[in-house]
Amino acid sequence: MRIAVLTESDPAEPRVAAVPETIKKFVGLGAGVTVQSGAGLKAGVPDADYEAAGATLAGSAAEAAGDADLVLKVRRPTADEIGLLKRGATVVAIMDPYGNQEALGALAQAGIDTFAMELMPRITRAQVMDVLSSQANLAGYRAVVDGAAEYGRAMPMMMTAAGTVPAARVFVMGVGVAGLQAIATARRMGAVVTATDVRPATKEQVESLGAKFVAVEDDEFKQAETSGGYAKEMSAEYKKKQADLVAAHIAKQDIVITTALIPGRPAPQLVSQAMVASMKPGSVLIDLAVERGGNVEGAKAGEIVTTDHGVKIVGHLNVAGRLAATASSLYARNLYAFVETLIDKETKSLAVKRDDELVKATNLTHGGAVVHPAFQTQS
Ligand code: NAI
Repeated sequence: MRIAVLTESDPAEPRVAAVPETIKKFVGLGAGVTVQSGAGLKAGVPDADYEAAGATLAGSAAEAAGDADLVLKVRRPTADEIGLLKRGATVVAIMDPYGNQEALGALAQAGIDTFAMELMPRITRAQVMDVLSSQANLAGYRAVVDGAAEYGRAMPMMMTAAGTVPAARVFVMGVGVAGLQAIATARRMGAVVTATDVRPATKEQVESLGAKFVAVEDDEFKQAETSGGYAKEMSAEYKKKQADLVAAHIAKQDIVITTALIPGRPAPQLVSQAMVASMKPGSVLIDLAVERGGNVEGAKAGEIVTTDHGVKIVGHLNVAGRLAATASSLYARNLYAFVETLIDKETKSLAVKRDDELVKATNLTHGGAVVHPAFQTQS
């Protein structure tokens, strides 16, 4: 069994799909691993470390992927990369399948067996493979670090000979994995932290981290969580009440971090232009939902927008990638944990169990067709 690790061809992607620790484990399973030279450079892993872990280096993607049975990537293979793969090869990556039917069709046509890590079910057995959690946790941390860097004042309260500096007020909107880490990080940095979410279960989590919960807690709120633990789209009436409460609160905040997402839908808009305008000059908003349309009106993907009255709206893309080394280590471990389940330890070859619920949930294309029910087009 040959495994290939490719350099990400998207210049906006500094992460890598394998690190020396996971290479060693793959070699231990009897695989031969080829790493494209330079694949780990942006994540702080030099070629020599991959070699020391037992990998062979290849000078190009074509050389690395040509005879690979299994290709490990961070992002979905591009059309050029698909052209390098042998028919029947398996690819495991963050596939970003929603709205990318054409790309899935091309993978199917090329006879590639593809698995989308982000579709992993959130069950106990698969926690170690949960890329949404491993990357969102880092994004939540980095959002606070970016917010503190853009903010022209200190985060903690400081009592100095020259006078007292007040603590920054940080408001976190959306308390999933990213939001919880943002709260914890902002607290560690000494900020006064408040947070909101539409799922009632988050109230206790917010309070257990030493932050204050701010939300309209009516009957609709009490039923706002799906059985899968995700948020529901709220009624127009609830959104209005929530917006009124938030509007008064936001005007007093220094840093606002938004992380609110609803699976399969555009991100809900939580912060209007008027709310942004109510904030003091020098305040900062970090919109982690910007890739899905954004929670903050006026946020621009990949840009830092400064409003006329001096409020910054930060819309960095791939925020986990801003911690490329840590993000790669965790992603690589998630990937290893899943791929291990696809390998037969006796024959030392790929043996995908098609009836395994992890396989069913993540397999997008197989045997020349798009096989995932959520992405099959009616013909
Ligand atoms: P997410 O990334 O889908 O959304 C982020 C947050 O935004 C959520 O907390 C959501 O309730 C909130 N939100 C949506 N609309 C909002 C609005 N209008 N106003 C304010 N907040 C809003 O969420 P994530 O991080 O994927 O977590 C979702 C759930 O999955 C949580 O219950 C989490 O604990 C759970 N989870 C379970 C895991 C497991 O069992 N293995 C692993 C990771 C998360």
